[in-house]
Amino acid sequence: MMESMRHIILITLGAIAAVSAFVLGFTYNQANEERLNLSADLQYRTRLLADSLKESVEPNFARNSTSTLQRIVNRFTDRERIAGIAVFNNRGIPLAISKDMPRRVIDNPDFVFIALDKNEPTGLFEEIDGAARYLFVLPLYEKDAVVGALVTVQNSSYIDGVVAEIWRRNIVRLFVYIFIFSAAIAALIRFAVYKIITRFADSVKSARISKTKNAPLRGPFFLKPLASEIAKMNMSLAQARFAASEEARMRLEKIDTPWTAERLKEFIKAYVKDRKIFVVSNREPYIHSRTKNGIEYSVPASGMVTALEPIMEACGGLWLAHGSGNADKETADAEGKLPVPPDEPRYTLRRVFLTPKEIKGHYVGFSNEALWPLCHLAHTRPLFRKEDWVEYRRVNSKFAEALLSEIREVQEPIILVQDFHLALLPRMIKEKRPDAKIGLFWHIPWPSAEQFSICPWRKEILDGMLGADIIGFHTRTYGNNFIDTVGKEIESLIDLEQFSITCEEHRTFIKPLPISIAFAGESESEGKAHDKNILEKFGVETPLVGLGIDRLDYTKGILERFKGIEFFLAKYPPYKEQFTFLQIAPLSREDSAKYREYGEAVTKEAERINAIYGTRDWKPIVLVKKHYSHAVLKELYRLAHVCLVTSLHDGMNLVAKEFVAARSDEQGVLVLSNFTGAARDLKGALPLNPYSAEETCEAIMTALTMPKNEQRRRMREMRNAVRDYNVYRWSAEFIKAIISLG
Ligand code: G6P
Repeated sequence: MMESMRHIILITLGAIAAVSAFVLGFTYNQANEERLNLSADLQYRTRLLADSLKESVEPNFARNSTSTLQRIVNRFTDRERIAGIAVFNNRGIPLAISKDMPRRVIDNPDFVFIALDKNEPTGLFEEIDGAARYLFVLPLYEKDAVVGALVTVQNSSYIDGVVAEIWRRNIVRLFVYIFIFSAAIAALIRFAVYKIITRFADSVKSARISKTKNAPLRGPFFLKPLASEIAKMNMSLAQARFAASEEARMRLEKIDTPWTAERLKEFIKAYVKDRKIFVVSNREPYIHSRTKNGIEYSVPASGMVTALEPIMEACGGLWLAHGSGNADKETADAEGKLPVPPDEPRYTLRRVFLTPKEIKGHYVGFSNEALWPLCHLAHTRPLFRKEDWVEYRRVNSKFAEALLSEIREVQEPIILVQDFHLALLPRMIKEKRPDAKIGLFWHIPWPSAEQFSICPWRKEILDGMLGADIIGFHTRTYGNNFIDTVGKEIESLIDLEQFSITCEEHRTFIKPLPISIAFAGESESEGKAHDKNILEKFGVETPLVGLGIDRLDYTKGILERFKGIEFFLAKYPPYKEQFTFLQIAPLSREDSAKYREYGEAVTKEAERINAIYGTRDWKPIVLVKKHYSHAVLKELYRLAHVCLVTSLHDGMNLVAKEFVAARSDEQGVLVLSNFTGAARDLKGALPLNPYSAEETCEAIMTALTMPKNEQRRRMREMRNAVRDYNVYRWSAEFIKAIISLG
């Protein structure tokens, strides 16, 4: 908007400059012409007057009758514009002078001598006594001899007045033109050109998204050349896509090449055929909110969304999720559906709307205050409330109802249920639709059987989950824990060979599937930070930078991390004012008191450490409690010397993988908690027990002093690991496991 305003202003200023140049040039000419005409007219009229006077002056001059001369002169003095008339003899002595004759003419009649010398009538414009005058000298003769001169002085200042009036009128006119022009140009651009361009851009967008080749571009005639170029580009793009898909199809079975979106698409075409894929999760991938700039959408900070989005983009289908944004209803249709991503739709999002009571019980209560702390060993006590459990069940059945309506017409639908918010959903669907193939992915850790046994509704939860055909966990340990838990709580047949559980004649396979990110290898140039000043914008100006990016959640070990930084500053003082730790911590689950308290504690801890170690120009910890886009985070990853992931317990942790993916320069060090799923995949990281501030302190020191070669070796190893097992491969394996059930 700002940019387009700037263009409108520039175009308008250009037009104003052109109109002004034209009007000023025209006025200059007109004023000159008028001055010439008026001067010629004045000269002519003065000459006429002088000639007629001469006839009566010459005889009286001959007679030396000065009194008559004076009378003649006096007769004309009251005439308009005459400033004075005088008769001089050839020695320059005035014989008769009208009463208003300017003094300078009488005292210094040099121009009389010039005319007498030349012996011809002479006129000149001159400023006399501060006023513009026209002086006309007519020689007087007696028998062919020059005996004197008749001097007529006219007031010529009215000529300047007329010329000034021309300028004034034309400048006023110019201002009126400028006003009308600016308004007309601004209106034209805003309502005509801008509209035409936006409509054209829309048609380019639909052509880009459209599945039909050569989708027509609608636009006025003057955009035709542009339309034809865009059509050609679209065509090349379609051809490139086709070539990539062909190549991906050929590579389908080659295990040693990295998985890409194209390869996943081909895989789905080949294995899933025409069966449709449905993803169900609590958190939606796009949230629409009302802001001061109107309705805007955002992508939430969620590892689950980060991982699932590329799959849906690759294979289409429908994603069912809770519509949590305050503008979610108005941006979807009556069924809660909308095409997403909003800028380039690839699949359908269907929103399920919940009441505040349902959200409080299902999301805030049972999901975040019971199941989350139950599954994470972060020493936060789970809160089991009956009323939360009731809402948890109700919301699960609400999701089930919406999903059942979507799959009514679909044979053997493939359903991918996500996470701990929907543990009861697999059973609810399986009961109604035994033909549905259901995969449940548990994005958080699974605790030991003893830990899980404290949940009052453990059997219902396990039974709900066992409605799935496949249950995926990030690590084999979580899967083992789950099998142990089921063995302890539910009558079932456990097959440790096949890693499966059979319960009431339904068999569920447990699969370790370490989730990842959409990284298939990058070119060198993509790995460079584009905005080197981004750190300064965050107030970070030291040569060494540490980075932490986490939802503001107690499982992430942010307080423990800060303690480690404090130890580091105390033990290695030369790093003061040389090292800054930037912690990006978007607010999370603020409806829960535990999260609010944690947020406050994190702020206080950062302030405490900054007060002890900080100086006037330097804060050791820069804490920013805001959510940033992937693009901004990527820039930060690329500039950090060390990235600290110190979770107390974490199912996987995709921040660690994103840091590695961003570092195509193969520099930077990852410090990674042993209690994350990612620690099993990223062997090049510096391992850490986040509960030990001393270990954190030493890990920072090791990272900041690590030779470049070693950084490269470790980073290369981690990048290979992430590239080889990226999210495309994760989903291919998940889907393959479901399809192979038959
Ligand atoms: C974890 C969970 C996700 C969840 C995310 C953000 O990554 O596994 O399911 O979406 O945290 O939490 P939120 O409560 O904001 O969805």
